[in-house]
Amino acid sequence: MTQTYRITLLPGDGIGPEITAVAKDVLNAVGSQLDLQFEFSEALLGGAAIDATGNPLPHETLEKCKNSDAVLLAAIGGQKWDNLPREQRPETGLLGLRAGMELFANLRPATILPQLIGASTLKREVVEGVDIMVVRELTGGIYFGKPKGVFPTETGEKRGVNTMAYTEAEVDRIARVAFEIARKRGKKICSVDKANVLEVSQLWRDRVIAVSADYSDVELSHLYVDNAAMQLVRAPKQFDTIVTGNLFGDILSDAAAMLTGSIGMLPSASLGAEGPGLYEPVHGSAPDIAGQDKANPLAQVLSAAMMLRYGLNLPEAADRIEKAVTAVLDSGYRTGDIMSEGMTLVGCKKMGEVLLDTL
Ligand code: IPM
Ligand code: MG
Repeated sequence: MTQTYRITLLPGDGIGPEITAVAKDVLNAVGSQLDLQFEFSEALLGGAAIDATGNPLPHETLEKCKNSDAVLLAAIGGQKWDNLPREQRPETGLLGLRAGMELFANLRPATILPQLIGASTLKREVVEGVDIMVVRELTGGIYFGKPKGVFPTETGEKRGVNTMAYTEAEVDRIARVAFEIARKRGKKICSVDKANVLEVSQLWRDRVIAVSADYSDVELSHLYVDNAAMQLVRAPKQFDTIVTGNLFGDILSDAAAMLTGSIGMLPSASLGAEGPGLYEPVHGSAPDIAGQDKANPLAQVLSAAMMLRYGLNLPEAADRIEKAVTAVLDSGYRTGDIMSEGMTLVGCKKMGEVLLDTL
């Protein structure tokens, strides 16, 4: 019997709809090969949702996501909505979705593909073989801590406040996810914090050390975030798994992504303790190239592969997609962001077509 999987698509803004169309075609193609049925249902998030409903995360979207087997998001945001009050901004919709689905663990792999080493801004010998997994805490820290807001002081001057806070339980659960992942990878984990200055980071470090007692087979180290940023561009091969809080993870995952040459290649997964996961490329909505058929759909396609592997437990389908991506790169097809001499420049649609041909 054909098994059916219910997938909610959130195309979002900017290049989102273009890259989602490619991912959907690829999923359908691999589905028909392996006798899997994907039942897609689209929902509004971010700017698209603001335009249609005034709300960046309509109630209906959250319900749909929670009731599906997995959620595939493209990207949200754009200048058009940048001056709205914070509660109406596209980003607030994404944060609400992460919180609403309780997706506390964000997995952001940064793996350099041999075909794209030339696209990195760093020297070949520095980046060759880089294979890092950033595990970012996603529903706590300064993104969600209270108090938050802009308040008038006694003199009438305004003061902006956010709070970086973590409970022991919040640190423990993300640390466990990261140790489990490190165990299946290089058995090395680096916890990144700012414990030399921040109390919240001291607690973070203490809890990571406590949790590490259950993972004596995994080597644990610690770095302050400023040093970690420096080490990532100086000698990235020293890292295997990185575990860190929400804000530091946001920043370091962009830096790690860029080691690979283009943020346009990297997928991510956001997982909770139970329930469906959310899969999305690390890159944003790239409004500057939206609608011009220039976007690189590969991060979105690889996010779909991550969804198959981690969310739907379909490793064979994930393998096929990942192999097709590698084969297409081997054949020399490149979108503008990863273009180099002698390669064939293609647009988003064409990249989708060659992927389908390869599959
Ligand atoms: C990311 C993005 C988001 C974040 C924004 C769009 C809210 O930068 O997923 O890394 O800060 O988490
Ligand atoms: Mg970010």
